[in-house]
Amino acid sequence: MVLMVRILFVSLFIGLVSSDPLPVQDYCVAVTDSETYIPCKNSSLVTIEDFMFYGLNATVEFNDAGLAIVSVNANTFPGLRTQGVSLARADFAVGGVAVPHVHPRATEVAWVLEGTFLSGFIDSQERVFSKVIQKGDVFLIPRGLVHFHKNVGDVQGSLLGFYNSENPGRSTFQDTIFGCGVKEELLGKYLGLSAEDISKMRGKLNLRGKAEAGFSASPN
Ligand SMILES: *[C@@H]1O[C@H](CO)[C@@H](O)[C@H](O)[C@H]1NC(C)=O
Ligand SMILES: *[C@@H]1O[C@H](CO)[C@@H](O)[C@H](O)[C@H]1NC(C)=O
Repeated sequence: MVLMVRILFVSLFIGLVSSDPLPVQDYCVAVTDSETYIPCKNSSLVTIEDFMFYGLNATVEFNDAGLAIVSVNANTFPGLRTQGVSLARADFAVGGVAVPHVHPRATEVAWVLEGTFLSGFIDSQERVFSKVIQKGDVFLIPRGLVHFHKNVGDVQGSLLGFYNSENPGRSTFQDTIFGCGVKEELLGKYLGLSAEDISKMRGKLNLRGKAEAGFSASPN
């Protein structure tokens, strides 16, 4: 029992002070074309190109919310595996928004390259920290907290986000709540809404298909 409590404390402590585990070798280029789990590319086959990423020089297609993101994490840039860092370029059309979301595994530092944004985060006491930021400003979003950005200027805007994780993860409130496989009756109970309201909301957010796929995959 005492041992268990100690292990729990040690794991909590490690959880608090570190983000990704420390690397145990110089690099570990992820193997992306293997069906079995091979953690690192054979180092004799590693070249300079494994340490390069191309593609932050252009805006990709905007989504319905007026947001275009290029994520440079271990999934898109295998050389980042075990290095504990990643980044993303986010372009915003006029009025474009990054809806409230979290990166469960990383602190974010956002640097405004162009434009004017209303940005903010909400801490675990529901206190909102928000401000209009502009070109050259750097905004810190503490690890795992809900945050948002909206382009409030009259031209397209860009942010570069830096993360202390090779794969920070991203989950939005609407996808987590309405795109998950929890059945409408049950979700309705949590939120004080009828099953029809939940179903309507799922339809409105275009998440019905995603939720239904979840129903068949999960035992609830
Ligand atoms: C790594 O690649 C080299 C050169 O092709 C080869 O000689 C070596 O056996 C490989 N190592 C492993 C563990 O596959
Ligand atoms: C972006 O950079 C890549 C690689 O350096 C290049 O091939 C591509 O043409 C560039 N695209 C633009 C829009 O500048």
